[in-house]
Amino acid sequence: MHDIIRQLEEKRAAARMGGGQRRIDSQHAKGKLTARERIELLLDPDSFEEWDMFVEHRCTDFGMDKQSIPGDGVVTGYGTINGRLVFVFSQDFTVFGGSLSGSHAEKICKIMDHAMKVGAPVIGLNDSGGARIQEGVDSLAGYADVFQRNVMASGVVPQISMIMGPCAGGAVYSPAMTDFIFMVKDTSYMFVTGPEVVKTVTHEVVTHEELGGAVTHNTKSGVADRAFENDVEALLMLRRFMDFLPANNRERPPVRPTTDLAERMEMSLDTLVPDNPNKPYDMKELIAKVVDDGDFFEIQPDYAGNIITGFGRMEGSTVGIVANQPMVLAGCLDIRSSIKAARFVRFCDAFNIPVVTFVDVPGFLPGTAQEYGGIIKHGAKLLYAYAECTVPKITVITRKAYGGAYDVMSSKHLRGDVNLAWPSAEIAVMGPKGAVEIIFRQDIGDQEKIEARTEEYRQKFANPFIAGHRGFIDDVIMPHATRKRICRSLAMLKDKKLENPWRKHGNIPL
Ligand code: HXC
Repeated sequence: MHDIIRQLEEKRAAARMGGGQRRIDSQHAKGKLTARERIELLLDPDSFEEWDMFVEHRCTDFGMDKQSIPGDGVVTGYGTINGRLVFVFSQDFTVFGGSLSGSHAEKICKIMDHAMKVGAPVIGLNDSGGARIQEGVDSLAGYADVFQRNVMASGVVPQISMIMGPCAGGAVYSPAMTDFIFMVKDTSYMFVTGPEVVKTVTHEVVTHEELGGAVTHNTKSGVADRAFENDVEALLMLRRFMDFLPANNRERPPVRPTTDLAERMEMSLDTLVPDNPNKPYDMKELIAKVVDDGDFFEIQPDYAGNIITGFGRMEGSTVGIVANQPMVLAGCLDIRSSIKAARFVRFCDAFNIPVVTFVDVPGFLPGTAQEYGGIIKHGAKLLYAYAECTVPKITVITRKAYGGAYDVMSSKHLRGDVNLAWPSAEIAVMGPKGAVEIIFRQDIGDQEKIEARTEEYRQKFANPFIAGHRGFIDDVIMPHATRKRICRSLAMLKDKKLENPWRKHGNIPL
C-alpha cells in the first residue's frame, strides 16, 4: 500500500511540474505566474479541488506519442472565492505552449458542464498558443465544443475570462462569448490574425502589443473590460469582482454587510451640478458618494468614457450603475457608449442585478461618422436593453435629459420603476438654444428676440416639473438625499416580479 501511495505522490508531483523547471523559469522570466500559482492566488487557501490531473493527449503524429505531459496543458477544477463556489480552468503555457488539444478541451468542457449543473461561475485563465498544431481538426473540434458550452452557459452562470498570455486565432472566440474579459498589461494579447499575417495581407506593420495588447482592447476596440498591471493585481481584482456577482441566474447577488447607513446624507451633492448648464462635472463623484463605502468596480473605464458602467452596492446588495459622464463628449450617447451600456444592462438583467441609472445626457452625438457607423442600429441596442430589462430599475436625472436620449436612459416609458429628478433637471425635446433656433427661425437675425425666447423656453422646459406634472418622474428630490431615496426604492422593489411575453428570443438590433 505504501508503494502505491508513494507512486501516486510521484505522479502528482510530476503533473505539478507541468512542462518542467526550464519552462517554468521562462514563464517567470516573462513576469508571468504558472497556471497553478495563478489558481492559488485566485482561490481561497486550500480550497482548490483539481480534476483530470492525469489526463494526457491522444495524438501520435509528429512524434507526439513520445511527448506526453500529465494534465495536457490546462489545470481544471473547482474551489471557492471568499467562501463561494467557482469552477476554474487555467491554461499552462509551460505544456505545449498551453495549446488546446482534444483532451485539453474535454477537461474544460467537463468543468463547464458541472458549473451548469450546480449553478456556479466559470473562470478561465487564458494563456495559450491556440490550437495544438499537431492535432489538427481534433483541436478545432475541441474549440467548437467549448464555444457551444459558452453559448449555452450565457445568461445562466457568469463566465469570466482573464487573458494572461497569448490568445490568438479562433481561440479568441471563447473569451469573446463570456461575460467579461480582463487582460494583463504587457504580457497578454488577443487577435484573430497575428502581426505576420497582417503584414502579408494588408502590408501594415504592427507589433503584438499594438495589434492586440491590453491597452488596445481596453481603449480602442472595446473587446476587453479592464486591464491590470500584472498577474497578482489581476487575480486579486478578480476576487474582488466575483464578490459582486450572483452564482447563477436564479440567485440574488450576495449581500455584504456594511456599516454605511442607507440614510446617509451627502450635502456636497447639493452643489455638484454647476449653475452654468454647459459646464461639466464629474459624475463619478456622485457614484462614489452614493454607493456603499464608495466602493465602485468600474467596467470598461478606459473605453467610451461618455458613459460609466460598473458595480457597486446599496445596503450591501449589488447594483449595476449606468451613468452619463458630462466630462466626456458632454455625456452624449454615441455608438460606442450605446454598445457598452447595452451589454452591461443585459448582463445585469440576466443575473438579477438591479440597475441604477444617473442621467445627464444632451442627446445623441451628431455627425456623419456616427450616422455612417450605424448609430441608429447601435443606439437602438441600448433602448432595447433597457426596454426588455425586468430587474428593478431606478433612474435619477441630475441635469439634462433631452430628446430620444431621455427616452432611452431608463425612462418611465421603458418601465423605469422609480424615476427621480434633481431640481437641476432639464427634461425636454432639446436644449433651449437649439429649440428656439428651430421654432423661432424667423427671428434669428434679431438677437434680443432670440435671447428673450431662449429665456422663455428655459423657464418653461429646463426644469423637472413638466415631466413631474405628467407623472413621468415620481419625485423631485434633494441631491443630498439621493442615497437614501435609492436605498428605499430598492428595498421597496426587492420582490419585484415582471415577465416579458414568451418568445424563442427577441431580435435585438445586432
Ligand atoms: C503546439 C505550441 C503551439 C501550438 C506554442 N507551442 N504554440 N505547440 N501547438 N499552437 C509550443 C512551442 O512549440 C514551444 O514548445 C512552446 O509551446 C512555447 O512556444 P514558444 O514559441 O517558444 O513561445 P513564445 O516565443 O513565447 O511564443 C508564443 C507564441 C508562439 C506567440 C504563442 O508559440 C506561436 O506563435 N505559436 C503558434 C500560434 C498559432 O499559430 N496557433 C494556432 C492559431 S490558429 P517547446 O517544446 O519549445 O517549449 C487557432 C485556431 C483555433 O488557434 C480555431 C478555433 C476555431
